[in-house]
Amino acid sequence: MKAVVFHQHGTLDNIAYEDFPDPEPQPDELLIRVAAVALNGFDPMVLRGIPGLKTPLPMIPGADIAGEVAAIGSAAAPGRWKIGDRVIVIPNQATGMMGETKRGGASELVAVPQEYVQPIPSEVCFIEAACLPVAYGTALRMIETRGKVEAADKVLILGASGGVGTCCVQLCKSIGCEVIACTSSEWKAEKLKELGADHVINTSSQNYVAEIHRLYGKPRTRGGGGVDVIINYTGGETWAECFRTLKLQGKLLTCGATAGYDPKTDIRYIWSFEFNILGSNGWTPDDVAELLRRVADGRVKPVVHGTFPLSEIKVPFKQLMEREVFGKAVLVP
Ligand SMILES: NC(=O)c1ccc[n+]([C@@H]2O[C@H](COP(=O)([O-])OP(=O)(O)OC[C@H]3O[C@@H](n4cnc5c(N)ncnc54)[C@H](OP(=O)(O)O)[C@@H]3O)[C@@H](O)[C@H]2O)c1
Repeated sequence: MKAVVFHQHGTLDNIAYEDFPDPEPQPDELLIRVAAVALNGFDPMVLRGIPGLKTPLPMIPGADIAGEVAAIGSAAAPGRWKIGDRVIVIPNQATGMMGETKRGGASELVAVPQEYVQPIPSEVCFIEAACLPVAYGTALRMIETRGKVEAADKVLILGASGGVGTCCVQLCKSIGCEVIACTSSEWKAEKLKELGADHVINTSSQNYVAEIHRLYGKPRTRGGGGVDVIINYTGGETWAECFRTLKLQGKLLTCGATAGYDPKTDIRYIWSFEFNILGSNGWTPDDVAELLRRVADGRVKPVVHGTFPLSEIKVPFKQLMEREVFGKAVLVP
Protein backbone atom coordinates (compact mmCIF):
# COMPACT_ATOMS: atom_id res chain seq x y z
CA MET A 1 0.00 0.00 0.00
CA LYS A 2 0.93 3.68 -0.11
CA ALA A 3 1.41 5.46 3.22
CA VAL A 4 2.81 8.56 4.88
CA VAL A 5 5.86 7.43 6.87
CA PHE A 6 8.70 8.82 8.94
CA HIS A 7 11.64 6.59 9.82
CA GLN A 8 13.21 9.00 12.29
CA HIS A 9 12.13 12.11 14.18
CA GLY A 10 12.95 15.44 12.63
CA THR A 11 11.56 18.00 10.21
CA LEU A 12 9.39 17.93 7.10
CA ASP A 13 12.42 16.46 5.28
CA ASN A 14 11.92 13.28 7.32
CA ILE A 15 8.33 12.56 6.30
CA ALA A 16 7.44 10.98 2.94
CA TYR A 17 4.71 9.32 0.89
CA GLU A 18 6.04 5.86 0.08
CA ASP A 19 5.35 2.14 -0.34
CA PHE A 20 4.73 0.32 2.92
CA PRO A 21 3.76 -3.34 3.60
CA ASP A 22 -0.01 -3.93 3.81
CA PRO A 23 -1.19 -4.47 7.41
CA GLU A 24 -2.00 -8.08 8.24
CA PRO A 25 -5.16 -8.08 10.38
CA GLN A 26 -5.25 -10.23 13.54
CA PRO A 27 -8.30 -12.53 14.02
CA ASP A 28 -10.12 -9.88 16.13
CA GLU A 29 -9.30 -7.03 13.74
CA LEU A 30 -11.02 -5.37 10.80
CA LEU A 31 -9.05 -4.26 7.76
CA ILE A 32 -10.25 -0.77 6.86
CA ARG A 33 -9.81 0.93 3.48
CA VAL A 34 -9.09 4.49 4.62
CA ALA A 35 -11.30 7.22 3.11
CA ALA A 36 -10.27 10.20 5.28
CA VAL A 37 -7.68 10.90 7.98
CA ALA A 38 -7.73 14.18 9.89
CA LEU A 39 -4.50 15.69 11.20
CA ASN A 40 -4.11 17.18 14.66
CA GLY A 41 -1.86 19.72 16.32
CA PHE A 42 0.11 16.84 17.84
CA ASP A 43 1.08 15.24 14.49
CA PRO A 44 3.93 17.69 13.77
CA MET A 45 4.90 17.48 17.47
CA VAL A 46 5.25 13.66 17.19
CA LEU A 47 7.31 14.08 14.00
CA ARG A 48 9.67 16.40 15.91
CA GLY A 49 9.68 14.02 18.91
CA ILE A 50 7.92 14.66 22.23
CA PRO A 51 10.08 14.34 25.38
CA GLY A 52 8.91 11.34 27.39
CA LEU A 53 6.80 9.85 24.55
CA LYS A 54 8.19 6.68 22.99
CA THR A 55 7.18 6.55 19.33
CA PRO A 56 7.86 3.24 17.54
CA LEU A 57 9.62 3.79 14.20
CA PRO A 58 8.90 3.69 11.33
CA MET A 59 5.76 5.66 12.19
CA ILE A 60 2.61 6.35 10.16
CA PRO A 61 0.92 9.49 11.57
CA GLY A 62 -2.83 10.14 11.72
CA ALA A 63 -5.17 9.20 14.58
CA ASP A 64 -8.56 10.25 13.18
CA ILE A 65 -9.56 7.62 10.65
CA ALA A 66 -12.77 6.97 8.70
CA GLY A 67 -13.23 4.39 5.96
CA GLU A 68 -14.87 1.18 4.76
CA VAL A 69 -14.49 -2.36 6.09
CA ALA A 70 -12.36 -4.24 3.51
CA ALA A 71 -11.85 -7.54 5.38
CA ILE A 72 -13.13 -9.09 8.60
CA GLY A 73 -10.93 -11.10 10.97
CA SER A 74 -11.94 -14.72 11.69
CA ALA A 75 -12.67 -13.96 15.38
CA ALA A 76 -14.67 -10.74 14.80
CA ALA A 77 -18.25 -10.86 16.14
CA PRO A 78 -20.30 -12.92 13.64
CA GLY A 79 -22.89 -10.83 11.80
CA ARG A 80 -21.74 -7.54 13.35
CA TRP A 81 -19.74 -6.33 10.35
CA LYS A 82 -19.99 -6.64 6.60
CA ILE A 83 -17.64 -5.65 3.80
CA GLY A 84 -18.28 -2.04 2.82
CA ASP A 85 -19.58 -0.88 6.24
CA ARG A 86 -18.75 2.81 6.81
CA VAL A 87 -16.77 3.06 10.05
CA ILE A 88 -14.79 5.37 12.31
CA VAL A 89 -11.82 4.35 14.47
CA ILE A 90 -11.44 5.11 18.19
CA PRO A 91 -7.68 5.82 18.27
CA ASN A 92 -6.96 5.81 22.03
CA GLN A 93 -6.61 2.07 22.57
CA ALA A 94 -5.36 -0.19 25.36
CA THR A 95 -2.19 -0.87 23.34
CA GLY A 96 -1.47 2.81 22.68
CA MET A 97 -2.58 5.96 20.91
CA MET A 98 -2.61 5.72 17.10
CA GLY A 99 -0.21 8.17 15.48
CA GLU A 100 1.67 8.56 18.77
CA THR A 101 2.63 5.25 20.37
CA LYS A 102 1.24 2.89 17.70
CA ARG A 103 0.94 3.29 13.93
CA GLY A 104 -1.73 5.68 12.67
CA GLY A 105 -3.90 5.68 9.58
CA ALA A 106 -2.38 8.07 7.02
CA SER A 107 -2.27 5.16 4.59
CA GLU A 108 -4.53 3.30 2.17
CA LEU A 109 -5.25 0.47 4.63
CA VAL A 110 -5.25 0.09 8.40
CA ALA A 111 -6.02 -2.88 10.69
CA VAL A 112 -7.92 -2.08 13.89
CA PRO A 113 -9.32 -4.30 16.71
CA GLN A 114 -13.10 -4.40 16.22
CA GLU A 115 -13.76 -3.06 19.74
CA TYR A 116 -12.30 0.28 18.58
CA VAL A 117 -14.51 0.60 15.50
CA GLN A 118 -17.93 2.30 15.35
CA PRO A 119 -20.41 2.64 12.48
CA ILE A 120 -20.84 6.07 10.86
CA PRO A 121 -24.47 7.22 10.48
CA SER A 122 -25.56 7.68 6.85
CA GLU A 123 -26.00 11.47 7.34
CA VAL A 124 -22.28 11.92 8.17
CA CYS A 125 -19.63 11.87 5.41
CA PHE A 126 -16.16 10.33 5.85
CA ILE A 127 -14.44 13.72 6.03
CA GLU A 128 -16.74 15.02 8.78
CA ALA A 129 -16.41 11.76 10.74
CA ALA A 130 -12.61 11.87 10.54
CA CYS A 131 -12.61 15.32 12.19
CA LEU A 132 -14.23 14.03 15.36
CA PRO A 133 -12.39 11.70 17.76
CA VAL A 134 -9.26 13.54 18.88
CA ALA A 135 -10.10 17.25 18.66
CA TYR A 136 -13.88 17.23 18.97
CA GLY A 137 -13.89 14.37 21.49
CA THR A 138 -11.40 16.25 23.65
CA ALA A 139 -13.42 19.46 23.43
CA LEU A 140 -16.63 17.64 24.41
CA ARG A 141 -15.07 16.01 27.47
CA MET A 142 -13.29 19.21 28.55
CA ILE A 143 -16.35 21.46 28.21
CA GLU A 144 -19.23 19.20 29.21
CA THR A 145 -17.95 16.24 31.28
CA ARG A 146 -15.06 17.88 33.14
CA GLY A 147 -15.81 21.60 32.86
CA LYS A 148 -19.62 21.49 33.27
CA VAL A 149 -19.77 24.80 31.42
CA GLU A 150 -23.15 26.53 31.82
CA ALA A 151 -25.39 28.71 29.68
CA ALA A 152 -24.68 31.99 31.50
CA ASP A 153 -20.88 31.54 31.35
CA LYS A 154 -18.60 33.97 29.59
CA VAL A 155 -15.92 31.71 28.08
CA LEU A 156 -12.50 32.90 26.89
CA ILE A 157 -10.92 30.47 24.38
CA LEU A 158 -7.21 30.82 23.50
CA GLY A 159 -6.05 29.22 20.23
CA ALA A 160 -9.71 29.08 19.15
CA SER A 161 -8.92 28.62 15.46
CA GLY A 162 -7.54 25.07 15.71
CA GLY A 163 -9.18 21.66 15.74
CA VAL A 164 -10.04 21.64 19.46
CA GLY A 165 -10.79 25.37 19.41
CA THR A 166 -13.35 25.41 16.59
CA CYS A 167 -15.26 22.65 18.38
CA CYS A 168 -15.02 24.53 21.72
CA VAL A 169 -16.60 27.59 20.06
CA GLN A 170 -19.48 25.49 18.69
CA LEU A 171 -20.11 23.56 21.92
CA CYS A 172 -20.05 26.69 24.09
CA LYS A 173 -22.42 28.49 21.72
CA SER A 174 -24.77 25.49 21.70
CA ILE A 175 -24.84 25.59 25.53
CA GLY A 176 -25.72 29.30 25.37
CA CYS A 177 -22.43 30.86 26.54
CA GLU A 178 -20.94 34.20 25.55
CA VAL A 179 -17.77 33.26 23.68
CA ILE A 180 -14.62 35.35 23.44
CA ALA A 181 -12.30 33.69 20.90
CA CYS A 182 -8.59 34.49 20.49
CA THR A 183 -6.57 33.94 17.35
CA SER A 184 -3.34 35.28 15.87
CA SER A 185 -4.45 36.52 12.47
CA GLU A 186 -7.15 38.56 10.79
CA TRP A 187 -8.35 35.91 8.32
CA LYS A 188 -8.90 33.45 11.16
CA ALA A 189 -10.61 36.19 13.22
CA GLU A 190 -13.16 36.64 10.40
CA LYS A 191 -13.81 32.89 10.31
CA LEU A 192 -14.30 32.75 14.09
CA LYS A 193 -16.97 35.46 13.80
CA GLU A 194 -18.69 33.40 11.06
CA LEU A 195 -18.53 30.38 13.39
CA GLY A 196 -20.53 32.30 16.00
CA ALA A 197 -17.99 33.76 18.46
CA ASP A 198 -19.50 36.83 20.17
CA HIS A 199 -16.15 38.62 20.48
CA VAL A 200 -12.94 37.87 18.59
CA ILE A 201 -9.53 39.10 19.72
CA ASN A 202 -6.60 39.15 17.30
CA THR A 203 -3.68 38.62 19.68
CA SER A 204 -1.11 39.83 17.14
CA SER A 205 -2.57 43.35 17.33
CA GLN A 206 -4.63 43.35 20.55
CA ASN A 207 -3.80 42.56 24.18
CA TYR A 208 -6.45 40.02 25.21
CA VAL A 209 -6.05 40.77 28.95
CA ALA A 210 -6.78 44.47 28.35
CA GLU A 211 -9.66 43.55 26.05
CA ILE A 212 -11.28 41.30 28.71
CA HIS A 213 -10.88 44.10 31.29
CA ARG A 214 -12.53 46.51 28.82
CA LEU A 215 -15.44 44.12 28.17
CA TYR A 216 -16.10 42.81 31.69
CA GLY A 217 -13.94 44.78 34.11
CA LYS A 218 -10.86 43.66 36.01
CA PRO A 219 -11.51 40.62 38.25
CA ARG A 220 -11.79 41.54 41.95
CA THR A 221 -11.13 39.23 44.91
CA ARG A 222 -14.51 40.20 46.39
CA GLY A 223 -16.30 39.26 43.14
CA GLY A 224 -17.13 40.90 39.83
CA GLY A 225 -15.13 41.41 36.65
CA GLY A 226 -13.44 38.88 34.38
CA VAL A 227 -14.74 35.78 32.61
CA ASP A 228 -16.33 32.69 34.18
CA VAL A 229 -14.30 30.13 32.22
CA ILE A 230 -10.95 30.12 30.41
CA ILE A 231 -10.03 27.35 27.98
CA ASN A 232 -6.24 27.35 27.74
CA TYR A 233 -4.41 24.46 26.01
CA THR A 234 -1.75 26.88 24.77
CA GLY A 235 0.25 27.10 27.98
CA GLY A 236 3.65 28.84 27.70
CA GLU A 237 3.51 32.55 28.39
CA THR A 238 -0.29 32.58 28.26
CA TRP A 239 -0.60 30.44 31.40
CA ALA A 240 0.09 32.96 34.17
CA GLU A 241 -1.02 35.85 31.93
CA CYS A 242 -4.58 34.52 31.55
CA PHE A 243 -5.02 34.37 35.36
CA ARG A 244 -5.53 38.15 35.18
CA THR A 245 -8.80 37.64 33.26
CA LEU A 246 -10.54 34.97 35.39
CA LYS A 247 -13.22 35.93 37.90
CA LEU A 248 -13.40 34.89 41.54
CA GLN A 249 -13.92 31.07 41.69
CA GLY A 250 -13.73 30.88 37.89
CA LYS A 251 -12.80 27.71 36.01
CA LEU A 252 -9.59 27.28 34.04
CA LEU A 253 -9.83 24.26 31.71
CA THR A 254 -6.80 22.73 30.02
CA CYS A 255 -6.04 19.71 27.84
CA GLY A 256 -2.66 20.62 26.35
CA ALA A 257 0.32 22.96 26.14
CA THR A 258 1.03 23.94 22.53
CA ALA A 259 3.44 26.73 23.50
CA GLY A 260 5.12 25.03 26.48
CA TYR A 261 4.23 22.63 29.32
CA ASP A 262 6.38 24.10 32.11
CA PRO A 263 5.50 27.79 32.15
CA LYS A 264 6.03 30.33 34.89
CA THR A 265 2.97 30.50 37.14
CA ASP A 266 1.68 32.87 39.82
CA ILE A 267 0.18 30.90 42.69
CA ARG A 268 -1.10 34.07 44.41
CA TYR A 269 -3.91 34.33 41.84
CA ILE A 270 -4.93 30.71 42.38
CA TRP A 271 -5.60 31.17 46.08
CA SER A 272 -6.70 34.81 46.11
CA PHE A 273 -9.31 34.23 43.41
CA GLU A 274 -10.03 30.61 44.47
CA PHE A 275 -9.56 29.28 40.93
CA ASN A 276 -10.81 25.88 39.87
CA ILE A 277 -8.13 24.50 37.53
CA LEU A 278 -9.42 21.40 35.74
CA GLY A 279 -7.41 19.10 33.51
CA SER A 280 -9.06 17.01 30.82
CA ASN A 281 -7.49 14.17 28.89
CA GLY A 282 -8.86 12.32 25.88
CA TRP A 283 -12.43 11.17 25.23
CA THR A 284 -14.47 7.99 25.45
CA PRO A 285 -16.09 5.88 22.68
CA ASP A 286 -19.44 7.24 23.98
CA ASP A 287 -18.16 10.80 23.36
CA VAL A 288 -17.45 9.88 19.73
CA ALA A 289 -20.89 8.26 19.33
CA GLU A 290 -22.49 11.39 20.81
CA LEU A 291 -20.57 13.64 18.41
CA LEU A 292 -21.63 11.48 15.43
CA ARG A 293 -25.26 11.97 16.54
CA ARG A 294 -24.78 15.73 16.86
CA VAL A 295 -23.18 15.96 13.40
CA ALA A 296 -25.97 13.80 11.93
CA ASP A 297 -28.68 16.13 13.26
CA GLY A 298 -26.76 19.34 12.54
CA ARG A 299 -25.94 20.46 16.10
CA VAL A 300 -22.19 20.21 15.38
CA LYS A 301 -20.60 21.02 12.03
CA PRO A 302 -16.95 19.93 11.71
CA VAL A 303 -14.85 22.80 10.38
CA VAL A 304 -12.78 21.51 7.46
CA HIS A 305 -9.76 23.65 6.59
CA GLY A 306 -9.02 21.67 3.43
CA THR A 307 -8.53 18.19 1.99
CA PHE A 308 -5.19 16.91 0.69
CA PRO A 309 -4.04 13.70 -1.02
CA LEU A 310 -1.63 11.59 1.05
CA SER A 311 1.09 12.40 -1.47
CA GLU A 312 0.88 16.11 -0.46
CA ILE A 313 1.40 15.42 3.24
CA LYS A 314 4.02 18.15 3.60
CA VAL A 315 1.51 20.88 2.71
CA PRO A 316 -0.91 20.48 5.68
CA PHE A 317 1.99 19.58 8.03
CA LYS A 318 3.72 22.85 7.14
CA GLN A 319 0.46 24.77 7.52
CA LEU A 320 -0.08 23.26 10.99
CA MET A 321 3.46 24.18 12.01
CA GLU A 322 2.97 27.75 10.75
CA ARG A 323 -0.47 28.27 12.35
CA GLU A 324 -2.11 28.48 8.93
CA VAL A 325 -4.91 25.98 9.56
CA PHE A 326 -8.48 26.92 10.52
CA GLY A 327 -10.28 23.84 11.87
CA LYS A 328 -9.17 20.46 10.56
CA ALA A 329 -6.83 19.54 7.72
CA VAL A 330 -7.96 16.20 6.28
CA LEU A 331 -5.99 13.71 4.17
CA VAL A 332 -7.93 11.78 1.54
CA PRO A 333 -6.06 8.68 0.24
N1 LIG B 1 -5.13 15.85 26.18
C1 LIG B 1 -5.73 15.47 25.08
O1 LIG B 1 -6.42 14.47 25.06
C2 LIG B 1 -5.61 16.31 23.84
C3 LIG B 1 -6.32 15.97 22.70
C4 LIG B 1 -6.25 16.82 21.58
C5 LIG B 1 -5.42 17.94 21.61
N2 LIG B 1 -4.71 18.21 22.72
C6 LIG B 1 -3.85 19.40 22.78
O2 LIG B 1 -4.66 20.54 22.55
C7 LIG B 1 -3.91 21.53 21.86
C8 LIG B 1 -4.67 21.95 20.59
O3 LIG B 1 -4.73 20.87 19.68
P1 LIG B 1 -5.28 21.09 18.20
O4 LIG B 1 -5.24 19.79 17.53
O5 LIG B 1 -6.52 21.88 18.23
O6 LIG B 1 -4.11 22.01 17.59
P2 LIG B 1 -4.18 23.02 16.37
O7 LIG B 1 -5.24 22.61 15.43
O8 LIG B 1 -2.78 23.16 15.88
O9 LIG B 1 -4.66 24.38 17.04
C9 LIG B 1 -3.92 25.03 18.04
C10 LIG B 1 -4.12 26.53 17.90
O10 LIG B 1 -3.29 27.15 18.88
C11 LIG B 1 -2.64 28.27 18.31
N3 LIG B 1 -1.19 28.04 18.38
C12 LIG B 1 -0.43 27.19 17.69
N4 LIG B 1 0.86 27.28 18.04
C13 LIG B 1 0.90 28.21 18.99
C14 LIG B 1 1.95 28.77 19.78
N5 LIG B 1 3.22 28.38 19.64
N6 LIG B 1 1.64 29.71 20.68
C15 LIG B 1 0.37 30.11 20.83
N7 LIG B 1 -0.67 29.62 20.12
C16 LIG B 1 -0.39 28.68 19.22
C17 LIG B 1 -3.08 28.40 16.87
O11 LIG B 1 -4.10 29.38 16.82
P3 LIG B 1 -3.84 30.90 16.42
O12 LIG B 1 -2.65 30.98 15.50
O13 LIG B 1 -5.11 31.29 15.76
O14 LIG B 1 -3.62 31.60 17.70
C18 LIG B 1 -3.67 27.05 16.54
O15 LIG B 1 -4.76 27.15 15.65
C19 LIG B 1 -2.54 20.90 21.57
O16 LIG B 1 -1.64 21.32 22.56
C20 LIG B 1 -2.80 19.43 21.68
O17 LIG B 1 -1.66 18.69 22.01
C21 LIG B 1 -4.79 17.42 23.84
